[in-house]
Amino acid sequence: MKKILIPAIAAFVILLSSCGSDETTLSKAYEGHFLIGTALNRMHLSGTDPQAMPFIAQQFNSVTAENAMKWERIHPEPGRYEFGLADSIVDFAEKNGMQVIGHVLVWHSQTPQWVFQDSLGNQLTRDALLERLRDHIHTVVGHYKGRVLGWDVVNEAVEEDGSLRKTKWLEIIGEDYMEKAFIYAHEADPDAELYYNDYNNEERAKRAGVIPIVKNLQSKGIRIDGVGIQGHWHLDSPDMRVIDESIGEYAALGMKVMITELEINVLPTPAWLYGAEISRTMEYRDSLNPFVAGLPDSVQTQLTNRYAELFRILLKHDDAVTRVTFWGLHDGYSWKNNWPIPGRTNYPLLFDRSYGLKPAYHAVIKEAEKIK
Ligand code: XIL
Repeated sequence: MKKILIPAIAAFVILLSSCGSDETTLSKAYEGHFLIGTALNRMHLSGTDPQAMPFIAQQFNSVTAENAMKWERIHPEPGRYEFGLADSIVDFAEKNGMQVIGHVLVWHSQTPQWVFQDSLGNQLTRDALLERLRDHIHTVVGHYKGRVLGWDVVNEAVEEDGSLRKTKWLEIIGEDYMEKAFIYAHEADPDAELYYNDYNNEERAKRAGVIPIVKNLQSKGIRIDGVGIQGHWHLDSPDMRVIDESIGEYAALGMKVMITELEINVLPTPAWLYGAEISRTMEYRDSLNPFVAGLPDSVQTQLTNRYAELFRILLKHDDAVTRVTFWGLHDGYSWKNNWPIPGRTNYPLLFDRSYGLKPAYHAVIKEAEKIK
């Protein structure tokens, strides 16, 4: 009997200690500093992974819909809105006392072509597109009025060199499309926070394009509360000093700063695919997928150190940083398994594929505990 019982108890203890039974959680450890969020998708809500939702409620205090509120999902055809999945996310958040982030209102990706065309397929006029944008924002933001803490109003409007991205929004409406989007969002929910969100906007050149957008809105008295830095990062990039400096610079404009889509890619990836332009992809190659059997200790350590260093910087700026959202629940759910190269096994988050707490998780918790 003893022979069976002792290993069984040992296994149980190991299971407990690796499955998040530790008293502390991310959201508890960072209480008083900033919100901790995750991206929720259809798979979590479907019930096929019964661990997902309780785990999310335990570890996080804010949620972003990974796809459910994007134009192509929530407004797939003219006049047809699909709120079902997004509603379930908001209901879940409210039941569990979590904040909801609205993602996203104006973007060049995941926006259907019809948005820019009339029923005959001709390009819309400026006025017609503005009317369509206003209708979309009023309908979506209005639907969640009072239930969403803040909206990513405009996503990824700036190129790497700081110039405005050449999107249909810019081409048809002109430079003031962003002003209009922020105005419409504020009309639809006067209490919601409004954000500009982008990737690589910690980098100096891109930052130099984002800052005038913020200043322009401010000078016209148009509400903007914060800047989201997506944080689709890598083991070797960006330089932590750049992150540090960019938070300081956005904060100096009076902006709340959020890391809105955080993960750290550990796989070999050509630098031209750094960032998060989702239309850029590359074909699968075995040489770019080296850790199928598991993450080597040396890489695990690099990941852990990088997360620790990052959270040290974020804590240093905790008067400005209001939220850090991880882009995915655990490694198995990360979009980095399939983008920019499909079919890889990546390890970019704090929880492994069985909800085990990775060394990076403990390191992130430790950073908060150090300053208690
Ligand atoms: C990604 C999602 O994670 C994927 O599931 C989807 O296929 C593509 O979009 N910048 C953003 C996010 O603002 O919405 C994107 O999310 C990643 C890049």
